[in-house]
Amino acid sequence: MPVTIVRDVPALRAALRPARTQGQGIALVPTMGALHEGHLTLIRHAAASCRQVVVSIFVNPRQFGAGEDFQRYPRQEAADVANAEGAGATLVFAPDPAAMYPGGYATTVSVARLTEGLCGAFRPGHFDGVATVVTKLLLQGLPDVAFFGEKDYQQLLVIRRLVADLDIPVRIEGVPTVREPDGLALSSRNVFLSPGQRRVATALPRTLAAIAARLAQDGRDVAAQEAWGLAELRAAGFDAIDYLELRDADTLAPIDVVVRPARVLAAVRLGTTRLIDNMPILPPEGVP
Ligand code: PAF
Repeated sequence: MPVTIVRDVPALRAALRPARTQGQGIALVPTMGALHEGHLTLIRHAAASCRQVVVSIFVNPRQFGAGEDFQRYPRQEAADVANAEGAGATLVFAPDPAAMYPGGYATTVSVARLTEGLCGAFRPGHFDGVATVVTKLLLQGLPDVAFFGEKDYQQLLVIRRLVADLDIPVRIEGVPTVREPDGLALSSRNVFLSPGQRRVATALPRTLAAIAARLAQDGRDVAAQEAWGLAELRAAGFDAIDYLELRDADTLAPIDVVVRPARVLAAVRLGTTRLIDNMPILPPEGVP
């Protein structure tokens, strides 16, 4: 059966009704399109867990700030639909902006604390836009499970928080980041990098991996590792470094030592392209 495309909420609900009536599991993979192997991995995970796999494709205007890349964000719906189908999607939900935010729309979902630092400090309003659209997508499709990539780690925690706080009956699954052979995290924005910028970009995962490896051996010197990482990124030739920070993996609170699962997270800029990445750090053996 070719994948069905629906463009508004009544059509989405009608398309999912038979599956729901028959008790089939429904998985959702929210995306902004420009699907790459990272998205396709999410779709494959979804297809492995549920008969019905909805992939949403919506470049959400509310999560882009003034001067950000909303206009130039890659749009390639026909290719996305074919790729989503190949990976196991059964339904594509590709709403028009007017179907998501009709005239008179006035509601914002805002998650406190988790959104205050890291990307939240550099992209004001971004996580309100993400939280709002993800809440809508979850309530529109009422999936049993929804899949998100760990590359957007802060986003993943924000979504887990809003689902818990708003009692939305869905399981949220985070999936590890998919990387190029040289370590660069897959991102729809990588297409904007020139060959020279693409070479510089590899310093981001290299630096994070080095920090993660060192702190997994000896978790005491977080501040020194942050300072080393910032110096490495500066020397590599990034045009700007928004942040490189060690945070608690569950709360995103700043940490001085690694005694619990942690995360090293960074955001950098090459020209007008902003890249983010993060890696997990487990406390060294023997640390309580
Ligand atoms: O990660 C993304 O692509 C977007 O932030 C999401 C979750 C689809 C919401 O627009």
